[in-house]
Amino acid sequence: MLDSPSVEPVGIIGLGYVGLPLAVAFAEAGVPAIGVDTDPGKLASLNAGVSYVEDVPAEVVRENLSAGRLRFSKDYTSLQEAGTVIICLPTPLDEYREPDLSVVVEGVELVAENLRSGALVVLESTTYPGTTREVLLPILERGGRRVGRDFYLAFSPERVDPGNRRYTLQSTPKVVGGITPDCSERAGALYGRVVDEVYPVSTPESAELSKLLENVFRGVNIALVNELAILCHRMGVDVWEVIEAAKTKPFGFMPFYPGPGLGGHCIPIDPFYLSWRARAFDMSTEFIELAGRTNVNMPYYAVGRITSALNDVKRPVNGSRVLVLGVSYKPDVGDLRESPSLKILELLAGNGAEVVYHDPYVPDLSGQGLASVELTREEIERADCIVIATDHKVVDLEPVVRLASKVVDLRNAVRQRLGPLPENVEVL
Ligand SMILES: NC(=O)c1ccc[n+]([C@@H]2O[C@H](COP(=O)([O-])OP(=O)(O)OC[C@H]3O[C@@H](n4cnc5c(N)ncnc54)[C@H](O)[C@@H]3O)[C@@H](O)[C@H]2O)c1
Repeated sequence: MLDSPSVEPVGIIGLGYVGLPLAVAFAEAGVPAIGVDTDPGKLASLNAGVSYVEDVPAEVVRENLSAGRLRFSKDYTSLQEAGTVIICLPTPLDEYREPDLSVVVEGVELVAENLRSGALVVLESTTYPGTTREVLLPILERGGRRVGRDFYLAFSPERVDPGNRRYTLQSTPKVVGGITPDCSERAGALYGRVVDEVYPVSTPESAELSKLLENVFRGVNIALVNELAILCHRMGVDVWEVIEAAKTKPFGFMPFYPGPGLGGHCIPIDPFYLSWRARAFDMSTEFIELAGRTNVNMPYYAVGRITSALNDVKRPVNGSRVLVLGVSYKPDVGDLRESPSLKILELLAGNGAEVVYHDPYVPDLSGQGLASVELTREEIERADCIVIATDHKVVDLEPVVRLASKVVDLRNAVRQRLGPLPENVEVL
C-alpha cells in the first residue's frame, strides 16, 4: 500500500511524455500516484529512478519513489486502489491516416474491469469530439454501472509542451469537460491540486475540440508561412525579415515561422482526427487538408534548396557528403517522432548523398542506418554542405559558419545567434 492514506491515489495509464510528468506532478503535490505502463523497459528505468522524459528530473522520480508517493506497475489491478484514473495513452493514425483508438479502447476495457465504485475517469489523450461519450462511456457503463452515480467521467486535454521552461504543467490552464456537471466538478477539483487554473467547459466534446482547435491553428498558420517562405524565395524577399516587420504590429498578428516541416506527435497527426470526424457530418475540412499538403511538402522543398546550394559549390547531390545538424523535431529535446530531419536525410540518401548527422540529444541512430558524427573541425570541413535542421542551443554554430564550405540554415539560426549572414550561408 502507498503511504499518505488520507489522500486517495491517482492512477495514470501511459507513462510517456504526458503521463509521466503528470504522475510526478501529483506525487509532488502530495497525491500518491500509481503509474501503469506496458513497456517493461520504461518500468524498469522508472523503478531504478531513471527518467526518460527531459522535463522530469531523475532525482524527483527517486525522491517520490522512496517517499512512497510514486509507484510504477504493469498491472491494471493496481488501479483498484485509485480514486481517479487518468488515461494518457497514444492516439496515432492507422495506415489509412485515420484515427486509431485501439490502444485507448484496450486500456479503458481494463480500467472498467478494475474501477473502484465512485471513481473518476479522465481521458487526456488527444482525440476527436465524441470519443469520451461515444467510445469510453459505453465501455465503462457495461454491467449496469451508471455515470454520475457509480463513477464519473471527463475529458481534459493535455497541453504540455516538452522542453518549455516558461509554460509548465502547473502554469498552463487546464480545460475540463465532464459528462455531467458533477463529473466536471470532480475533475476540476482534482486538477486544482496540480495546476494554477482550471477552465471548465460544459461538455467533453467542447474540451476535445478545444485541443484540436489549438493544434489545427498551429498547423494551418505554419503552413501559411511555409507557403510564404517558398514565394519569398522566388521573389528574392527575405521571409524572416517580413515576419519580424509584421510582428511589430502590437495587435491582430501572431508570428509563426517557416521550417523544414512539421514534427512531433501532435501537430502532424491530431488535425486528421478532426477531418475524419467531420466526414461523418458531411463536411470536409479544407484548411486542414491544404495545410497538411503544404507542410508535408516542406522536407522535399528543403532538399531542393540543399540541392541548389550544392550546385552553387559545383557539387551534385550524388556523392556529396551532407551533415545534418539536429535530427529531433524541435530544439533542445531528443524526440524524433515525425521529425522532418529524418525525411530530409532519407531523401538526400535516396539521391545518392553520403549523409551523416550530429545531435547531442540523439547520439545513436545506427539501428536506423544513420551515422552520427561529432562536430569536429575535421567533420565540418569534410562536409560539402551542412544543414541546420533543428536549432539545439547547445550546438556551437560559430565554427560551423567559419569552417564550412556551404551551410543551409532551415531555421534562421545563424542570424539569430551570430548576426548578419556570411556568404557561405543560405537561409530558408
Ligand atoms: N507529447 C506531447 O507533447 C503531447 C501533448 C499533448 C497531448 N498529447 C497526447 O497525449 C497522448 C499521449 O501522448 P504521449 O506523447 O505521452 O505518448 P507516448 O507514446 O510518449 O506515451 C504513451 C505511453 O503509453 C504506453 N502504453 C501503450 N500501450 C499501453 C497500454 N495498453 N497500457 C498501458 N500503457 C500503454 C507506452 O508504453 C507509452 O509509455 C496522445 O493522445 C497525445 O496525442 C501529447
